Amino acid sequence: MIYKLFRPLIFKIDPEEAHALTLKILAFSSRIPLFLRFLKKIFQTPRSKPIRAFGLTFPNALGLAAGYDKNGIAVQGLAALGFGHIEVGTITPLPQLGNPKKRIFRLPGEKAIINRMGFPNLGAEKILNNLEKIKNRSEFILGINIGKNKDTPNEDAHKDYTSLISHFNHLADYFAINISSPNTLGLRELQGKAHLNTLLTAIIDHRDNFEKRVPLLVKLSPDLTELELSDALDILIKLKMDGIIATNTTIDKSSLISANKNETGGSSGMPLTKKNTEMVRKIDQYTKGVIPIIAVGGVMSAKDAQEKLDAGAKLVQVYTGLIYSGPSLVKNILSNLN
Ligand SMILES: Cc1cc2nc3c(=O)[nH]c(=O)nc-3n(C[C@H](O)[C@H](O)[C@H](O)COP(=O)(O)O)c2cc1C
Repeated sequence: MIYKLFRPLIFKIDPEEAHALTLKILAFSSRIPLFLRFLKKIFQTPRSKPIRAFGLTFPNALGLAAGYDKNGIAVQGLAALGFGHIEVGTITPLPQLGNPKKRIFRLPGEKAIINRMGFPNLGAEKILNNLEKIKNRSEFILGINIGKNKDTPNEDAHKDYTSLISHFNHLADYFAINISSPNTLGLRELQGKAHLNTLLTAIIDHRDNFEKRVPLLVKLSPDLTELELSDALDILIKLKMDGIIATNTTIDKSSLISANKNETGGSSGMPLTKKNTEMVRKIDQYTKGVIPIIAVGGVMSAKDAQEKLDAGAKLVQVYTGLIYSGPSLVKNILSNLN
């Protein structure tokens, strides 16, 4: 309600600046216990059902998708909004600036966003430092979304992913292997048969060196063809991957109507809702439910979230819905799931 009142004002600010401001407020709240208690009081829902997946117990079914807190500066503030899990990142080994600004665009007519961020982040060392400061880790699940630096050729991509696992293994509850962002040239080729098996085998072997076994989830693109998807799923089944995150943003702009529709990048939000739910259903049917799925793509309401759970997802995540509905969306979804 309050967010609805302020939204026209917020939408007057450049999307990336509005986002940075929100994160700063949440980062500040993360450091002040009184503020955290206040946020929890307002946003947390008493009706939360824990979910078991990937050998972990999630406090509830809803998480924050990757890209919102790329540098892990506001994790506790975000958890206080009621999310059962927070996925930080995408983190790359070395810091990088990402694509030139302006690189986030609102499409209010269809409640969508186009972004071409290109993994701007502080790099593994600094983000590790940020995450080591987090307190009350038992209250939520922390996912670490990892990617390769822009300049790393695909043939060497495994080195970036394994070095990130070395950095974060002691802190991560799960790793999300991001090979599906459309904004890093060539990244999505890693989903193809030629790379996927080799890449994931190297990552699994590396993970298995650690005493603490962290589940590995693969984040897929909604733009894979039927054949590409089944080829990828065959590999994920063969390698006994722990989980799938479906999906990243789409480069399919055919249903977009707003002025910004031709901006380069991946789109998210309402135009992705149905396409994503159908992909989750397909993955669940193809894998016969053996690989648990986190559904992410166009969760704008409790109904959307429920449909994804009914299609076979174990958990759901949200990003763009937050921009259009504000933080009360979390409580709204969690209070209305079956
Ligand atoms: C501005 C923005 C930045 C994003 N950055 C990342 C990222 O760094 N890594 C990633 O895996 N996904 C990233 N995503 C994709 C989201 O995690 C999510 O998969 C996608 O937006 C679909 O969900 P939604 O419709 O709820 O937004 C980003 C999305 C947006 C809108």
